[in-house]
Amino acid sequence: MTVVYNLKNVVKQRVSDDGIGFRLVVPDIQISAQENIALVGHSGCGKSTLLDMLALILAPDESEQFDLHPVGGKDDNIGQLWKRSRQSHLSQIRKRHIGYVLQSGGLLPYLTVRENIELPRKLLKLPDDDSINSLSRVLGIHRQLDKLPGLLSAGERQRAAFARALSHRPSILLADEPTAALDPITAQKIMAVVMEVIRGLKITLITASHDWAHVYKMELRTLRQESEPVADGRIYESRFSDG
Ligand SMILES: Nc1ncnc2c1ncn2[C@@H]1O[C@H](COP(=O)(O)OP(=O)(O)OP(=O)(O)O)[C@@H](O)[C@H]1O
Ligand SMILES: [Mg+2]
Repeated sequence: MTVVYNLKNVVKQRVSDDGIGFRLVVPDIQISAQENIALVGHSGCGKSTLLDMLALILAPDESEQFDLHPVGGKDDNIGQLWKRSRQSHLSQIRKRHIGYVLQSGGLLPYLTVRENIELPRKLLKLPDDDSINSLSRVLGIHRQLDKLPGLLSAGERQRAAFARALSHRPSILLADEPTAALDPITAQKIMAVVMEVIRGLKITLITASHDWAHVYKMELRTLRQESEPVADGRIYESRFSDG
């Protein structure tokens, strides 16, 4: 199976105004095509930071290796692209190959659900086809397509956010606590449907989750914070590895 992400000694440091800082270290992680991964760890351990780097939104400070080889795409040295400030190249890779669902869904409130879902396809100038309708049907939001997101339930909004992240048929889906705002039963229902869709579309899923029991139920490979962050002066270091 193709290795989609290959990260070695990737480091991101964030220091706030009071000088107290946080350092995320990814010593060695490979993620293969069609793997389903959960990032697990306590609040503040760096799950969103890691997802933002995997989404090519956030630049690492250091990376011995940060390669991305999306299915159907080219092999790219992401570390080098960041070092050379190739933002537009990074953004092209992101738009074409990655879908990202945020905790809050992130739907644009002034566009209908259909327009929201269509947006990634429009940005890529992809032709209209049946993907919006078929995805909406599978995710159970086909009756909501002409409404504004504000008129949907929280669960329906998250389903719509998944439909939007998948409409351009990315091979990688990143999701940051996509069901955290929902009750456990709704959350499980949504994730069960999403898992079915991503298996059908042969997508690599990487999701952050607080909910450990839920993660195990879905039989995801977990990448977890190795231990409590260790203090190095005023910097707290958090490391992620298989576990
Ligand atoms: N823009 C920023 N500037 C400075 N520090 C930041 C910034 N964003 C996050 N941090 C810090 O980086 C650390 C990791 O944050 P991150 O959001 O990645 O954690 P998380 O694991 O996603 O937490 P949660 O489970 O609460 O979502 C935290 O200590 C946070 O305060
Ligand atoms: Mg987070």
